Amino acid sequence: MRASATTLEAEMTPEETQALDTLLQFSSLTGTHLEIGTAAGGTLKRMVALYPKETRPRFVVVDTMKYFPDQMGIVARNLHSVGVDPSEVDFRVGDSWSEFRKAEAAGEQFDFMLIDASHKLNHVTRDLSWTRMLKVGGYVAMHDYAPKFPGVTQAADRFLARYPNYSREKLAGSLLILKKNAESAAAEVSAGDRFAAEIGNFFQQLGGSVRKRIGSRG
Ligand SMILES: C[S@@+](CC[C@H](N)C(=O)[O-])C[C@H]1O[C@@H](n2cnc3c(N)ncnc32)[C@H](O)[C@@H]1O
Repeated sequence: MRASATTLEAEMTPEETQALDTLLQFSSLTGTHLEIGTAAGGTLKRMVALYPKETRPRFVVVDTMKYFPDQMGIVARNLHSVGVDPSEVDFRVGDSWSEFRKAEAAGEQFDFMLIDASHKLNHVTRDLSWTRMLKVGGYVAMHDYAPKFPGVTQAADRFLARYPNYSREKLAGSLLILKKNAESAAAEVSAGDRFAAEIGNFFQQLGGSVRKRIGSRG
């Protein structure tokens, strides 16, 4: 069982949650906010509770809800603890890639996204496809941008190199915040980007298991 399932807290450091609070408090974002990967909803409850009920933007959460037993019930309890009715949040229980395809087909738009689901290179790259639906002037935050998670750092670095209309606004702990400054010349994350990420992920996983074997022999 993950610690967050019992503590109900965000899987972020105080420095990271503070940076997120500051961004949301001072950016006047009124459009839909998205969290991909919520765990116990610790960060979600903080973000939702930052806004007064009357002016609160719509929140969408995408998660497979298989992180620990009764994940959905725990998230609901967590939201109740800060006076938020869970029915106010649009939960989409499923894999982020299938949910992305549905959201894109429906023409959805977002002002803010927090990407914090699987940290594998191929999965983070796919999750960055959601930025096609990020409005100009909006922000995407990526958690665990740190050497311990090369899948996240490589996906983010490749994305920034490929889409110069995004700027790196802040790195607080391992929370990387990017801003979309203009429409992208080509839709974010091509089939080629995804293919390269699949190959890269294969070698990252292979490297990881070789290191484990060497470590267990030593
Ligand atoms: C690191 S935790 C999220 C932590 C949370 N953002 C916080 O700050 O407390 C990762 C979450 O991503 C979800 N997840 C992992 N892979 C996923 C996928 N492919 N699609 C949707 N959700 C996924 C897990 O179920 C888990 O709840």
